[in-house]
Amino acid sequence: MSTLSSPEVLRRTGGHRIKSIVFDEATIARRVAELGNEVTAAFPEGELLVLGLLKGSFIFLSDLVRKIERPIQVDFLVAASYGAGTVSSGTVRLLYDPATILEGKHILLVEDIIDSGRTLQRLLGLLGERRPRSLAICALLDKQLAPQRPPELRFVGFRAPPAFLVGYGLDHAENYRHLPFIADLDS
Ligand code: IMP
Ligand code: MG
Repeated sequence: MSTLSSPEVLRRTGGHRIKSIVFDEATIARRVAELGNEVTAAFPEGELLVLGLLKGSFIFLSDLVRKIERPIQVDFLVAASYGAGTVSSGTVRLLYDPATILEGKHILLVEDIIDSGRTLQRLLGLLGERRPRSLAICALLDKQLAPQRPPELRFVGFRAPPAFLVGYGLDHAENYRHLPFIADLDS
């Protein structure tokens, strides 16, 4: 693993120093493989549709699906986020609605990180209306700040510290998604 101020890391961040690496590549790979096994075991039969919530889940999802050893379908969804000061209507708006049929299938919603849990709570309502056979969530990281842990949250990679994390899909203003590890930004 490169040191935090090594030329390799600084080349990737454009010279921005990173405070610490919270989960390194090997640790992530081991946990993602375990999650793949857990998912495989949890769905012994039926159609399984893995739905990635973009953009944050794109790297996690691509690694996870290759560790799932049963037939699956893959699709994505893009949810509208509300800017600061914007009062949401309480219903989430989809900018990309999966073309795949959800009805009658096991749905595994893949999310990068759960903070307040609000995004997920709304998505669960919307997806539930499509009458899936079951609805489960797989989140790579959980800050455990959500007031209530939804029963659908069946698979969690890591408990995350209350820091702002970047890398492995997670961004800060669209930067740093490509880092192969998960880091705490130097503020
Ligand atoms: P929630 O609705 O408050 O749970 O927010 C979840 C979304 O906020 C995630 O899908 C991320 O896009 C973003 N987010 C929350 N915490 C972090 C973080 O530490 N780094 C990067 N993005 C984050
Ligand atoms: Mg984000």
